[in-house]
Amino acid sequence: MSDNACKTNLGTHILVFPFPAQGHILPLLDLTHQLALRGLIITILVTPKNLSFVKPLLARHPSCIKTLVLPFPTAIQSFSSAPSLPPGIENLKDLPSSYIPAFLHALAKLNEPLLQWFESQIRYSSSPPVAILSDLWTQDLAVRLNIVRVAFFPMSAHNLSVVNYFLSNLPTREDCKDPNHLFTAYGVPNSPVFPIYQIYPSHHLYADASPLWKIFQHNNSLNKASWGIVLNSFSELEEPFLNHLRENYGNHGRVWGVGPLLPPIDHHRKDSSAESRNRGRPSSTCIEQVMSWLDSCAENQQSVLYVCFGSQIVLNRKQIEALSVGLEQSGVKFIWGVKEISSSLTDHEDIEKSVLPTGFEDRVAGQGLVIKGWAPQVAILSHQAVNTFLTHCGWNSVLEGLVAGVQLLLWPMINDHFMTAKLLETDLGLAVKICEGADTVPNSTELARVIAESVPQGDQEGKSRPQMIRAMEMGKMGLEAVKGGGRSFKNLDELVLELKKFNVKRTIYSL
Ligand SMILES: *[C@@H]1O[C@H](CO)[C@@H](O)[C@H](O)[C@H]1NC(C)=O
Ligand SMILES: *[C@@H]1O[C@H](CO)[C@@H](O)[C@H](O)[C@H]1NC(C)=O
Ligand SMILES: *[C@@H]1O[C@H](CO)[C@@H](O)[C@H](O)[C@H]1NC(C)=O
Ligand SMILES: *[C@@H]1O[C@H](CO)[C@@H](O)[C@H](O)[C@H]1NC(C)=O
Repeated sequence: MSDNACKTNLGTHILVFPFPAQGHILPLLDLTHQLALRGLIITILVTPKNLSFVKPLLARHPSCIKTLVLPFPTAIQSFSSAPSLPPGIENLKDLPSSYIPAFLHALAKLNEPLLQWFESQIRYSSSPPVAILSDLWTQDLAVRLNIVRVAFFPMSAHNLSVVNYFLSNLPTREDCKDPNHLFTAYGVPNSPVFPIYQIYPSHHLYADASPLWKIFQHNNSLNKASWGIVLNSFSELEEPFLNHLRENYGNHGRVWGVGPLLPPIDHHRKDSSAESRNRGRPSSTCIEQVMSWLDSCAENQQSVLYVCFGSQIVLNRKQIEALSVGLEQSGVKFIWGVKEISSSLTDHEDIEKSVLPTGFEDRVAGQGLVIKGWAPQVAILSHQAVNTFLTHCGWNSVLEGLVAGVQLLLWPMINDHFMTAKLLETDLGLAVKICEGADTVPNSTELARVIAESVPQGDQEGKSRPQMIRAMEMGKMGLEAVKGGGRSFKNLDELVLELKKFNVKRTIYSL
């Protein structure tokens, strides 16, 4: 790929700061790739341990993309109610969600060294950055420097619309106490309705003066104040919500759907390079092993179920048991990506949770493959043997599933998963929900039945559910959207064009 666009070093330069959680970092880097293709000069801010995420992109765009590596700030003081950050953690995937406040607190301390870096850029560089693209925190900094900020949302436009509604119209404490109370997001298309736990997973923390509460509100107001908004979504999937944001978020209409953001390669098996394969790591199983296992299933095309609940969700023991029994009884071939908890948190009770029943792996040898740790999801999903994806409805997983043209079975767990499940199942009719809730233990007999019905085995013809057909159509539209001429492709062009108007000469920095 040509990297010539940036050779002059006089182009428009931006700083990209990916929030170091897996679900955030990868789509933002995929977006960065698209921006580099369009000739922006880009500096990516990373902390040392996550530098490896960026390496493939650096190799791909040696003259457009540089890194700024700042040490991860040590968090001394944190909120009294929340645990403080264990040393050596630079990525949310290593942490249970109770650590989020401490993590955010530590991150905010990057502001000072970042400001110093800007100072030296403005002084000594022929093209200091004219914009910051980030998913967190940097709006203050952009205001201080008098440059623009582009906020990136790795979630759905649906989620952002609903979040924004409830942050602007705080539910009362009284209503939150009632588990049966339903909250309506008025004005959001279809006026979606949710019980409190689906909107705010830790609503008991949201007593009036809770620090987390304030973080969310503050974050939202900063994002609203940004110059532009970029979402990993596309018109065909979320037009009403994208339009809603254009009218209700930020008052400037600069809301661009640029998804589905894909890894910078054609992700068919033959082409899948080390780049898309090793995006997470570490993992118990190497990609070659996974691919050859899938190859061995491919005689009966499209016979494999892929089960994965993302990089944050940890199933409890009962859920693991129910799922393993369900999978085994279904007789369906499967790959199951099981999350492993970082060994730096060994004394945490979560470690207890992620253990498979004794003998399970041996019993299902031949039927299933268990991957502990990171699973090469994009490569698995796009393998021809894979027919169905049981997903927790994380936004990235959903997009990856759609693009790969597989059937989606849903088990929404927390946060925006419920909204996404509703969007996919009820509004768009392209997926089937089979379980719901982070603590729910499914009936394994039922689970086995649904799975066996969904995934065709042996010579059996797969029943083509209308949902599956619609999902495949949506996936195709997604791929069209990011090709030349597609809406997302055009939105990216427009974003870059707008950013190029902020050239160094016109930007008056203030320090
Ligand atoms: C990112 O940093 C964390 C440390 O918290 C580390 O566990 C993880 O492996 C890093 N990711 C990569 C790809 O280097
Ligand atoms: C803050 O906003 C960003 C989008 O800019 C979002 O990705 C993130 O989840 C939000 N975090 C919190 C703590 O609200
Ligand atoms: C929206 O999505 C983000 C990112 O997944 C999540 O953290 C947040 O909880 C969601 N918001 C709501 C209100 O569910
Ligand atoms: C699970 O489902 C099966 C079949 O529908 C039913 O016979 C059984 O009683 C259920 N088990 C439990 C514990 O509910």
